[in-house]
Formats: sequence, C-alpha cells, structure tokens
Amino acid sequence: MRATELQLEPPGLYKGAVSSKKDEVWIAVAGVEELPDRTSKKFLAVVDGAEQECFLVNFQGRFYAYVNRCCHVPMTLDWVENRFFSAEGRYLQCATHGALYLPESGECVAGPPCGKFLQRLQVATAHGTVYVAVEHRNRPRQND
Ligand code: FES
Repeated sequence: MRATELQLEPPGLYKGAVSSKKDEVWIAVAGVEELPDRTSKKFLAVVDGAEQECFLVNFQGRFYAYVNRCCHVPMTLDWVENRFFSAEGRYLQCATHGALYLPESGECVAGPPCGKFLQRLQVATAHGTVYVAVEHRNRPRQND
C-alpha cells in the first residue's frame, strides 16, 4: 500500500506523518463495511517496541484507533470483550472505574484520569479497507 493512496482519518489530521516515519508500516485492520457506526475491532500491534492490544472504532463514520490501555491504571478498557462504547454510544468507557473518553480524540472527560489521552494510532482508509500505522516489527516474523 503506497502512502499516497491512503485517505487519512480524519482527513488532514496526520499530514506529513505518513511519509516521514520510515519505521512505520500500514496494516489492514478491517473492511470499512465491517465496522458500522459505534462498533469496534481489537487487534494486536507493536507499539513502543512491544506487542500490545489495540482497538479500532467507528464513531459517526470516522475511524479511530487506540492502544487498549486506560490512563488511570494500565488495564484494558473493554468491560465485555470488544465492547468499548458507553450505553448511549457517546463515549469510550473504561470497565474498571468508569472513565469516559471521547472517541474522536481519546481525551478522558470524566473519571480518575480526566484530562489524559488514550494512546492514539494513525488511521487511514483506502479501497474499502481501514489501515493503521504501526511499527515495522508488525510484519510477519520468521521462525527462529
Ligand atoms: S482503570 Fe480505567 S478508570 Fe481506573
């Protein structure tokens, strides 16, 4: 996938980041049609040198991806497997102490880590697929 084919999500937010990070690679995480509004999909990716659980969400037709780790205590957010949205669908909610995060920015707006941000990953779409920028080490490993 060439960077020039990617439509950044949201448009323009990550201008420059696509081509400047030589150690990044775009991985296909989901089909655009696979994730309706306010749904999510978990995936594994190398972030900061270690494999971490991450998640992709569709919020109002835009895609966002974060490391699945609360800013309060380093625990996963989902209270039921792959369930990140609060009951009314406006926020991402941490299962442990109920912190509420904005899906579009990852900012915590209520709860113990208020004002902190989830670790965000770059997202882009192309040809009906949602891609996330991750470290090179996400490429398939050879058997040692
Ligand atoms: S661990 Fe998420 S709010 Fe406490």
